[in-house]
Amino acid sequence: MKGLKVFSGIQPSGNLHIGNYLGAIKQFVELQKENEAIFCVVDEHAITVPQDPEKLREKTLEVAMIYLAAGIDPEKSIVFIQSHVPAHAELGWILNTLTPLGELERMTQFKEKKQERKGTMAGILNYPTLMAADILLYKTEAVPVGEDQIQHIEFTRMIAEKFNNRFGDTFAIPKPLVDKNTARIMALDDPSKKMSKSAISEHSYISLLDKPETIQHKIKIAVTDSQTEIGFDPAGRPAISNLLNIYSAFYNEPTDKIEKKYSGKGYAEFKKDLAEVIIEGLSHLQHKFSELSKDKDGVLEILRKGAVRAENISSKTLQEVKEKIGFYR
Ligand code: TYM
Repeated sequence: MKGLKVFSGIQPSGNLHIGNYLGAIKQFVELQKENEAIFCVVDEHAITVPQDPEKLREKTLEVAMIYLAAGIDPEKSIVFIQSHVPAHAELGWILNTLTPLGELERMTQFKEKKQERKGTMAGILNYPTLMAADILLYKTEAVPVGEDQIQHIEFTRMIAEKFNNRFGDTFAIPKPLVDKNTARIMALDDPSKKMSKSAISEHSYISLLDKPETIQHKIKIAVTDSQTEIGFDPAGRPAISNLLNIYSAFYNEPTDKIEKKYSGKGYAEFKKDLAEVIIEGLSHLQHKFSELSKDKDGVLEILRKGAVRAENISSKTLQEVKEKIGFYR
């Protein structure tokens, strides 16, 4: 992948976990090398479910620090907070006026959240139009994400095509970029569910900031199955296959090699090594994170500079949109 306009975002809600890292952030770091990349902390999306204001500020900075600690270079890529660039909410509104209600009502995320909560807010329904605005404002061509976001990107493509057909060529039609091996890391306590920041049990995920002892404990109690041999078979043996997948992604070796390495060995030995592989895989990020935590003002300064660069690009697209739809300058 070379010379593309790349955009992605993460919500500052809950604890970022190894699913977010392997499915998204690891790709961000790779893609920034040969593409024009923009990474956003999407705080306006996070408030579609209730948030405590102090916690939201803390988590917003935490996501930004994880981006930087993971290796995103703010000199090269743009890193910023969504609410610092008003064009996102403004284009989101305009896209709402072009979106059939039924398209929003059929989105999986909306249906799930509606079931979970009493009194779902309109923001959850309109979530996809704001996400489309994030992507389209930068004429994005590629969006690195995990599998759960593909439906939102398909929605973005649909609305971009609709706008282009009605008002003339304006937006690039973005493609999702998904790493098939890590697009859906499953929960440690239930391999039928994806690993999630909003999970009730902390044992279902490994946070990127978990201490080594916590990682060892969570892997030790992770569910496996009743067999004795380590084997990769995602359909038949989802729990152990998920663990093999995580091992493979952190260790940069295909699953069949890891499977061979543990042939004839038990789950206990495999799990002990897996915990070490994760601890080692996160150690650099955690070290950088704790350095950055000592200078939060410095991090905010980076984000504010990023917002100025993002504003320069997005304000031009927004102006173009406003003229096309018939607003006065
Ligand atoms: P969010 O904040 O839920 O997740 C951030 C990224 O992590 C990926 N991910 C996973 N990948 C593999 N396995 C998992 N278990 C797992 N859980 C999460 C997500 O797919 C995502 O890539 N709607 C987005 C945020 C957003 C956005 C955007 C993304 C807002 N605007 C524009 C891209 C472009 C979300 O809620 O991601």
